[in-house]
Amino acid sequence: AAAMAAERSLAMATCTAPVNIAVIKYWGKRDTDLILPINSSLSVTLHQDQLKTTTTAAASRDFTEDRLWLNGKEADVGHPRVQACLREVRRLARKRRGSGEDTAALSLSYKIHIASENNFPTAAGLASSAAGYACLVSALARLYGVEEELSEVARRGSGSACRSMFGGFVQWQRGERPDGTDSLALQVAPETHWPELRVLVLVVSGEKKPVGSTAGMQTSVETSPLLKHRAEVVVPERLAQMMRHIRERDFEGFGQLAMRDSNQFHATCLDTFPPIFYLTDLSRHIIALAHRYNAHHGHTKVAYTFDAGPNAVIFALADTVAEFVEVVRRSFPPATNGDQFVRGLPVGSAALSQELVAAVVTEPLPGAVQYILHTKPGPGPQLVDDPSQHLLGADGLPRSRA
Ligand code: DP6
Repeated sequence: AAAMAAERSLAMATCTAPVNIAVIKYWGKRDTDLILPINSSLSVTLHQDQLKTTTTAAASRDFTEDRLWLNGKEADVGHPRVQACLREVRRLARKRRGSGEDTAALSLSYKIHIASENNFPTAAGLASSAAGYACLVSALARLYGVEEELSEVARRGSGSACRSMFGGFVQWQRGERPDGTDSLALQVAPETHWPELRVLVLVVSGEKKPVGSTAGMQTSVETSPLLKHRAEVVVPERLAQMMRHIRERDFEGFGQLAMRDSNQFHATCLDTFPPIFYLTDLSRHIIALAHRYNAHHGHTKVAYTFDAGPNAVIFALADTVAEFVEVVRRSFPPATNGDQFVRGLPVGSAALSQELVAAVVTEPLPGAVQYILHTKPGPGPQLVDDPSQHLLGADGLPRSRA
């Protein structure tokens, strides 16, 4: 088959890759070119049935230039991070061939076409560079027949992307070496490890974030003493604790620590100079709601985490989802199309007790939450075998999709 691939004028591979949400946050680089972090981080990979990127990579001797399409629109293939991923995958392919493992494979000198799409609306502020780069690297690796450790390559696209190379619960270990060869993602536990764990994404707005992560974290590294303390003292302790909570499926411990770490990440943003604000008034409403809900029940039933944007991500166990979704619906009544308020995995109905409503639902804010996406931990990148699913046609151009 490899010999045939060399003679074919067009080779193509399609993969999908997931989004991940960090519970111990990555914020700050010690090397901005290689994307080496100042602290290790830990995330949960979300299920691709709800959130995924699909990418097709094709190579042909008939292509005259490298080209890239994102959600159907042509984009800059010369972007330094796209180029870094391409260069690193080709380097691994060359190494493999040099060692004689794969002699008749696809020519590395052919130009490539890449098309990438998300199965979720980009406008919802869920667009994830993590899923995008994890998918790009997976598709390129498949195209060139590379089977090596690829999280190191995905890291060159976006730091958080290296964690999307695995399913379930994933650690990105910071590593010690200056060349980054030990700054890798490792699976802590597969997605099957904690079957009751659920994730609710509260999509609050399509606004663009004020300061991007890349620029924001660099200013934090340069100006925040809290970030330095966090990286040196707090994260090493928390990482060990979080691994234990996950291993033991201890939701109380997991949820508490996830909330504390999200809060400390946002504290380092405030400690940055000039300060960066990702949390909004609505984020603070959601945080307060989660704490009132937990206080009412007397233990941690839900846990929030926020990244460099306004959407809230809530962790809960399956038996809590219906009640909490009803609490969110009462607190943020949908302005329009209330039937589409809950998306993703099915959510049962729940009746709220008067005590619960009185204690937890204070001044409703109509329309503040656009919709809730119900999902759960899921697997890492997947190969798409069915050729009808390729995003590029036989001519190497994006297929028009219905
Ligand atoms: C707040 O991975 O987007 O989501 O490495 O510069 O591409 P770059 O940054 P990025 O930063 C993610 C920051 C975060 C926390 C996290 O995912 O760990």
